[in-house]
Amino acid sequence: MATIRRLDVLRVRNLSEIQIRPADRVNIIYGNNGSGKTSLLEAIYMLGLGRSFRSAKLEAVIDTKADDCVIFAELDAGVSVGLNKSRKQGHVLKLLGERQKSWVDTARHLPMQIINSDSFSLLEGSPKIRRRFLDWGVFHVEHDFALAWRKANKCLTQRNLLLKQKRLDTSQLAAWDSEFSLLGTQIDEQRKAYIDKFLPILNDALPRLIEIPDLRISYERGWDSNTSLAQALDSSLERDIRYGATQVGPHRADISIKIGRNAAADVLSRGQQKLLVSAMKIAQSQLLYKLTEEKGVYLIDDLPSELDSENRILICRLLEELGCQIFISCVDIKEIEKCWSTDVSTGKFHVEHGKITTL
Ligand SMILES: Nc1ncnc2c1ncn2[C@@H]1O[C@H](COP(=O)(O)OP(=O)(O)OP(=O)(O)O)[C@@H](O)[C@H]1O
Ligand SMILES: [Mg+2]
Repeated sequence: MATIRRLDVLRVRNLSEIQIRPADRVNIIYGNNGSGKTSLLEAIYMLGLGRSFRSAKLEAVIDTKADDCVIFAELDAGVSVGLNKSRKQGHVLKLLGERQKSWVDTARHLPMQIINSDSFSLLEGSPKIRRRFLDWGVFHVEHDFALAWRKANKCLTQRNLLLKQKRLDTSQLAAWDSEFSLLGTQIDEQRKAYIDKFLPILNDALPRLIEIPDLRISYERGWDSNTSLAQALDSSLERDIRYGATQVGPHRADISIKIGRNAAADVLSRGQQKLLVSAMKIAQSQLLYKLTEEKGVYLIDDLPSELDSENRILICRLLEELGCQIFISCVDIKEIEKCWSTDVSTGKFHVEHGKITTL
């Protein structure tokens, strides 16, 4: 179970030096606008996922007056994770004191979910965002998925380079196609198996937050459902050459989220969208727990926006049942502290001008 026991944040945005000992369950981070609440959540997120949720470049999170930033966390069972990001020397990520080449093992220790104002993009954003959502789930339950995904991306890059050449090297193309077909088929099968387990859990969780009649969620694999990927690549070759890029494969997969015939994002209000997205993310964590007994860490930035107090309580109750560690930010602590059961261990942290006081 991933629980952060101690968290140090140095020179991340306006947080010059923070050290906290979070509670096992609910941690309320409150303070005025611009005090540093989102920055604290961002630091935790970066440690688990290797990227920020608001800046494309990690460098943007370094305090403008500093040359590097450090984030360090002690988890259960003596597991430690540390990240140093420097302007000049890139980043160093350590898990249990050992330098890591990729984020794969750290991410496994810290399954991280976030609900914030960007979460709407799961409904209205590009397919890439929904693939990322789906792959988060598959990654945490199928341990060979990350490798297959990485290799498939490499094949895709090579294949696309070939497609752009003046003279197509057909023997090289056949070699990449054969590997890409195998990997793409594996990725598709694992995604499909995941969605088949995910949907019943979502169907149970969603009505606890909102009733959405006629909601239909389905997985689209990225090529014709009646053909193999090898055949689909063959049939698409002419088009691929024209575009200079592969038009079919697991990189074109999507999750269709519709109400009747319309995209859910076109029909639902902002608050309803937030409830649907929250249910989808919570259902993922419920499934993760069911399959692996792993609970993960939840980051929730500014829950009150778009949600009335009744819905806030509904979300908090569902989150609470997950039993995971939660970091939730708000401007006014009164809006959030009443959303939890009285017996859940709650830490309260007041953020003011980049400094934190534990209550
Ligand atoms: N690279 C940086 N270096 C230093 N300060 C930064 C950097 N990037 C952003 N800031 C500042 O950090 C402060 C904290 O921002 P943050 O988004 O964490 O605030 P917040 O508490 O979440 O506010 P809000 O309630 O408005 O969401 C802001 O004043 C912001 O301008
Ligand atoms: Mg904020």
